[in-house]
Amino acid sequence: MSATPRAIEPMAFSEATLARFAREVAKYPPDQKQSAVMACLSIVQQEQGWVSPEAEKGVADYLGMPAMAVHEVTTFYNMYNQRPVGKFKLNVCTNLPCTLRDGGKALQYLERKLGIHMGETTPDGLFTLQQSECLGACADSPVMLVNDRHMCSFMTQDKLDQLIDGLKAAEDQA
Ligand code: FES
Repeated sequence: MSATPRAIEPMAFSEATLARFAREVAKYPPDQKQSAVMACLSIVQQEQGWVSPEAEKGVADYLGMPAMAVHEVTTFYNMYNQRPVGKFKLNVCTNLPCTLRDGGKALQYLERKLGIHMGETTPDGLFTLQQSECLGACADSPVMLVNDRHMCSFMTQDKLDQLIDGLKAAEDQA
C-alpha cells in the first residue's frame, strides 16, 4: 500500500517579508500581481537560503495562483534552490561550447578539490557544487557563477584555487 502524500501547509511569512512582497506586487496592475512571483521567490530565497514546498505554497496563496504554477517557476530557473545549499553556491557551465573549452574539466577539478560530487554540499556547509546552463559568456570558458550573482571567467585550475582558497580564508576571518 502506498503512503498518502503529505499535505503541504503554506508558510506563514513574517510582517517584514509580507511588506517586501507588497512592494514588488505594487509594481504591477492590481489584476496582474502574479507577475511578482519571481521577485517574491527571490525574497524567500534571500531570507531562507532556499525555496521549500511550504514557501512555494505560501507565495501561491499570497499571489492568488496555483501552487503548481509557482513550482513551475521554481523548477524552471536554476537560480532557485529547491533544497538547502552551502554558503557559496558554485555553478559551473557545462553546456556544449563550454565543455569544448574545459568547462567539464573545471567542474571535475572542483569535485576533487572540494571532495564532493556535483550536486552535493561540503560537510562544513560552505560549498555547493552544481552544473549550470549557458551563462551567455561562452567565449570566456570555463565560466561559473558564485551565488547566482558573481560571474567568474577563464577559470583555470590556478584561478579555481584562488577562488576557493580566497572564499575559505574570508570565511575563516568572518
Ligand atoms: S555554453 Fe557556457 S557560457 Fe555559454
